Amino acid sequence: PYNLKGRNFLTLLDYNREEIDYLIKLSENLKIKKNSGIKGDLLEGKNIALIFEKTSTRTRSAFAVAARDEGAYPEFLGINDIQLGKKESVADTARVLGRMFDGIEFRGYAHQTIEELAVNAGVPVWNGLTDSYHPTQVLADLLTVKENLGYIKGVNFAYLGDGRNNMANSLMIAAAIMGMNFTIVSPDKLRPAPALQEKCHSLARESGAAIRQTDDPVTGVKNADVIYTDVWVSMGEEDKFAKRINLLKPYQVDMEMIKNTNNDHPIFLHCLPAYHNTDTENGKYIYEKYNIEEMEVTDRVFNSKYSKVFDQAENRMHTIKAVMVATLGK
Ligand code: CP
Ligand code: NVA
Repeated sequence: PYNLKGRNFLTLLDYNREEIDYLIKLSENLKIKKNSGIKGDLLEGKNIALIFEKTSTRTRSAFAVAARDEGAYPEFLGINDIQLGKKESVADTARVLGRMFDGIEFRGYAHQTIEELAVNAGVPVWNGLTDSYHPTQVLADLLTVKENLGYIKGVNFAYLGDGRNNMANSLMIAAAIMGMNFTIVSPDKLRPAPALQEKCHSLARESGAAIRQTDDPVTGVKNADVIYTDVWVSMGEEDKFAKRINLLKPYQVDMEMIKNTNNDHPIFLHCLPAYHNTDTENGKYIYEKYNIEEMEVTDRVFNSKYSKVFDQAENRMHTIKAVMVATLGK
């Protein structure tokens, strides 16, 4: 096995294909172990800090359950509970937490914050989402792809919607490293940043991945094995709601789009939370005032046989456990 002890997990760019394969294999083994009811001790005696500047259902729960399953103690540190960034610098917070905890998860806004934590903590730091990257999510996505298709390299992967957000960035990186054919299907205004595209193109030359971008939702999904989308408005950019709806309307994942893959068995993935049945105002969904009935994915697709979104959500726990065990465990 690969020795990843003491490593951070920040963007995925710091991991190679063999190491990511190893993390997925380890996730599969830990999933089998959990499902057989075997209690683990691979993180026995470890204390884990969970810092959250933004809200979370899956990531927080996955870290907490994964830690306990393997004998570690997780401590939740919400942004309103600790001094981070208000009364105390990020660097000092990192130095203090590093004296008490064996590993630190961070979810928040600026990616710079987690880089600063990582430089100063002296213990592994794991990215539970920043404005720029969401690498633990992508591990769960890769596991879900492997479980459903049987392989990762060579998979045709179409990502619809906001091509500049943390999910688009991290999925593109994973595809480039792992050799998936990745098409960003998004309006030109929401293309991935040129510098990151360039980096991914150079990684793709090594792995054999094809990284493409198109604004055409019809041809963009042709031959796709995986259709992936994310919310049109990410945490922290709520003021862009109206603009995003107008830009992204044509990229809604509906049954027509599933048909346009020309594939009998595509799978639909979404990191969740999905916007499709939330936020009402006077009994109406907020987005209805923008003349749209559903958001990034229709209920029909979300609840169809193509949709693997809840397997994907469960896999957050198994893959996060693998990251902690690999970087910190026995
Ligand atoms: N997918 C994901 O990260 O979900 P949460 O925001 O609920 O953690
Ligand atoms: N792009 C989304 C992902 C949520 C898991 C966000 O940042 O809000």
